[in-house]
Amino acid sequence: MAAPMVSIQDLVVDASTSRGTAHLLRGVSLDIGRGRILGVVGESGSGKSTLASAMLRLLPPNISRLSGQIRLDGLDLVALAPAEMEAIRGRRVAMIFQDPMTALNPLFTVGLQLIDVLRRREPGLRRADELKQAEAMLATVGIPDPRLRLAAYPHQLSGGMRQRVMIAMALMAQPDLLLADEPTTALDATVEAQIVELFDELRQRFSGSIVFISHHLGLVAELCDDLCVMYGGVIVESGPVTEVLARPRHPYTRALLDCEIDDDASGRLASIPGDVPDPLTVLTGCVFAPRCPHAAPRCLQGQPPLMELEPGRRAACIRADEVLP
Ligand SMILES: Nc1ncnc2c1ncn2[C@@H]1O[C@H](COP(=O)(O)OP(=O)(O)O)[C@@H](O)[C@H]1O
Ligand SMILES: [Mg+2]
Repeated sequence: MAAPMVSIQDLVVDASTSRGTAHLLRGVSLDIGRGRILGVVGESGSGKSTLASAMLRLLPPNISRLSGQIRLDGLDLVALAPAEMEAIRGRRVAMIFQDPMTALNPLFTVGLQLIDVLRRREPGLRRADELKQAEAMLATVGIPDPRLRLAAYPHQLSGGMRQRVMIAMALMAQPDLLLADEPTTALDATVEAQIVELFDELRQRFSGSIVFISHHLGLVAELCDDLCVMYGGVIVESGPVTEVLARPRHPYTRALLDCEIDDDASGRLASIPGDVPDPLTVLTGCVFAPRCPHAAPRCLQGQPPLMELEPGRRAACIRADEVLP
């Protein structure tokens, strides 16, 4: 198998808070294949955004520890000096945020913002060529009348169109790794479906890898190749998306899936009983044990590592073979 585009080893992120040390990522290891779309799912508070921010090295100021490795094509992003990381951010690694208004500059036209990204990648182009590329990129992400839209300001566009502009800006950089953190959560269901379709189309033209973060398993099932399920700052399960969803091996994945099935039946948002762990807790047993219907006394003797159960399938559950074979 080809070397993965991204290889993360034992990534730990702590933050200092007035209540003590918060453990946001508790030793995450994961590979992202070249040209693959990896879905990251888990309830709110699982550490998904922290994982994305760590890959961009855009962590909040109260972070007290960042350790482990994030290798992008062999280059360890954790070990880079801030200036070296600056050269990678927005170029080799680009991010699409949930709310495009926080990422787009309200004072500049869409065209200027796209050209700004293009110039960082390819300085010295003629103005006419810059405009042509910016227009073509807007067309690629499905924006009608792209030439006219170049002169628009972000507030003149709808939420869905702004999200398309964000995606255009990220793609303009031709990144090796595109991070999308709940990119459709702020949109209504119809527009959400259109944006997911857009991602699906883009994969034909885009050679990089994509991390698509969502709390919605159905979306991820449609779009992604691989899946990684996070809970309490830990990856509890990973594997090819169709296999994980057809036959989950971790009780947390099973519980998430059951919630989605209940949603369809009742129209209400189902949820797993109990709460996600407080990041201030120091783990003594399995992170999911307090909510797990299958927890046994030996599950309280430490967090199990993510173990390979069969080729390509991993789960962090010592009872996987007994309870979800
Ligand atoms: N800067 C921070 N300081 C303290 N706690 C944080 C900080 N950022 C996130 N957290 C906490 O860490 C946990 C994981 O957060 P996050 O990565 O945003 O999860 P997700 O994106 O899966 O909802 C949450 O409990 C959140 O409240
Ligand atoms: Mg988040």
